[in-house]
Amino acid sequence: MTLVLPRIAMLDADTLTTRLDELCEVLENCVQGGASVSFMLPFDRDKSRAFWQNVARSVARNERIVLVEEDASGAIIGTVQLITDQPENQPHRADVSKLLVHDSARRQGVAGRLMTQLETVARNCGKTVLVLDTSTGSGAETFYSRMGWQKVGEIPRYALMPDGEMTATSVFYKFL
Ligand SMILES: CC(C)(COP(=O)(O)OP(=O)(O)OC[C@H]1O[C@@H](n2cnc3c(N)ncnc32)[C@H](O)[C@@H]1OP(=O)(O)O)[C@@H](O)C(=O)NCCC(=O)NCCS
Repeated sequence: MTLVLPRIAMLDADTLTTRLDELCEVLENCVQGGASVSFMLPFDRDKSRAFWQNVARSVARNERIVLVEEDASGAIIGTVQLITDQPENQPHRADVSKLLVHDSARRQGVAGRLMTQLETVARNCGKTVLVLDTSTGSGAETFYSRMGWQKVGEIPRYALMPDGEMTATSVFYKFL
C-alpha cells in the first residue's frame, strides 16, 4: 500500500494566479453550500476570480499569506489566509481569513492541518496574537473551539448569509 501524505503549500502571487480556477472551485463550493464568507448568492466565476485576483495582488504586496492543501492528485481541496499587514501598533497580531475546505474533503482533518501550519507560519512571522470571526452557530464555530481558540463574544446582526438571512458573528482569538 502506498501512503500519500497530505501536502500543504504556501502560494506566491504568480502561482496563485496560475491556480486561480482551482481556488475558485473551493470558494464557489463553500458559498454555494451556504457558508458565510463575505459573499451572497448568486455567486459566479467572475466574482470568484475577482476575489482571488485581489488576493494575489495582496500577496504580491506582502500583506497576506495563502496556504493550500492538495489532494493526492495535486488539486487544491482547502485553503486559509493569514493577514499579516497590521497597523504599526499591532505588529505582533494577524487576522485569519477564508478558511475554506471543499465539501468533498470535509471531516478528514484538512482544516485542522491548515490551521496548525498557519500557526507555525504566524509564529515564524513574529505573530503572537491571532484574531478571526465566524458565523455564530456554524460548523466553523465548533471547529475553532475544538482547535483551542477563545471565543470573546457575539455581535448580533453582523452579516447576511448567502441566501440573505441575517447572522450574528462570533469573535475568537488565540495566543501563540
Ligand atoms: C469549517 C470547515 C473549514 C471545517 O473543515 P474540515 O476540514 O471539515 O475540518 P476538520 O476535518 O479539520 O475538523 C476537525 C474537527 O472540527 C470539528 N468540526 C469540523 N467541522 C464541523 C462541523 N461542520 N460541525 C461541527 N464540528 C465540526 C469536529 O470536531 C472535527 O473533528 P471530527 O471530524 O473528528 O468530529 C469546513 O466545514 C468549511 O470549509 N466550511 C465552509 C466554509 C467556512 O465556513 N469557513 C469558515 C470561515 S470563518
